[in-house]
Amino acid sequence: MTDFIDTGLPIPLGWFAVAYSNELAPGDVQPLYVFDQHLVLFRTESGEAKLLEAFCPHLGAHLGHGGKVVGEHIACPFHAWEMNGAGEIKHIPYATAMPKRAQQGACMHSFPIQERNQMIWAWYHPRGLAPTWDIEDIPEFSDPDWSELKTWEWEFNSCIQETGENAVDIAHFVYVHNAQTMPKANIELDGHKRSTDMITLGPVIDDAGNMDMSRTEEMHLLSRNIGPGMSCQVFSRAFKTVLMGTITPITASRVKLRFAFTKPKNISEIFNVYTDGLIQEIVNQVQHDMPIWEHKIYREDPILCDGDGPIAKYRRWFAQFYDDGADETPVRLVK
Ligand code: FES
Ligand SMILES: [Fe+2]
Repeated sequence: MTDFIDTGLPIPLGWFAVAYSNELAPGDVQPLYVFDQHLVLFRTESGEAKLLEAFCPHLGAHLGHGGKVVGEHIACPFHAWEMNGAGEIKHIPYATAMPKRAQQGACMHSFPIQERNQMIWAWYHPRGLAPTWDIEDIPEFSDPDWSELKTWEWEFNSCIQETGENAVDIAHFVYVHNAQTMPKANIELDGHKRSTDMITLGPVIDDAGNMDMSRTEEMHLLSRNIGPGMSCQVFSRAFKTVLMGTITPITASRVKLRFAFTKPKNISEIFNVYTDGLIQEIVNQVQHDMPIWEHKIYREDPILCDGDGPIAKYRRWFAQFYDDGADETPVRLVK
């Protein structure tokens, strides 16, 4: 008997964060389990991050458990065969000739990698097809006037489509997160990108940081999603922070969610207080959502009412990230 809920949705294709850049120094090797498979992540001596399937093409040792970086290669802990980041066998210390199969190209699946916004991203496609877009830079994440990242992470049973739906499910902000009024959410779709402008009301805060509880003003939360695995949220008014949210499929029904916040270094004490309070509130909101996500089912054909947010529109957008297996250009553009 288990209460584990399988949503029935497959792992979507796209770019997914697999580590923070500073977690992987040159020469480091790590075992990794994402995309429902065993993988090995390593950084070569020249500094390039690489991600390969875990198991050696020789006799199947896991390269992430005892493998070592040798120059631009990874050496297997079992018999010291060396593979490069493209999954080709490059050196067998005790062979007089390269085996035929090793001469015919890559023997292990390698994942396309990008390193942006202080993270290492891997492209996952269920049939191994090439990327059809890029991860985008968040300028604040490489700006020396902005702080080091402050990070949180969670692992739980859910899937990416379900957690992403949160952003357009405006009614839950009142009933799960205790919002005073129902926010408005406008979403715009552009291929693999989605922008959401969420508008709520809050007390007026002037340029010096004085709060007037007797009057309200609109607050805009601008979110940009780049494919299923990355979001960037820019907060307005007194809340001087940018959040990058990443979500990575461990399996089809389990995910790793990471939040990374940065703030301008030179803001006044009062704005630091407002901003830190907001960051804590956003982190708390994940704890409110998690028990719902972990125990809900996915309703493919839900009964919706006129007060619900643009849930159907969001789902049509997300559908492009499920490989239909039919063609060589898997991403159908949905407008
Ligand atoms: S199993 Fe990897 S070198 Fe033999
Ligand atoms: Fe939520």
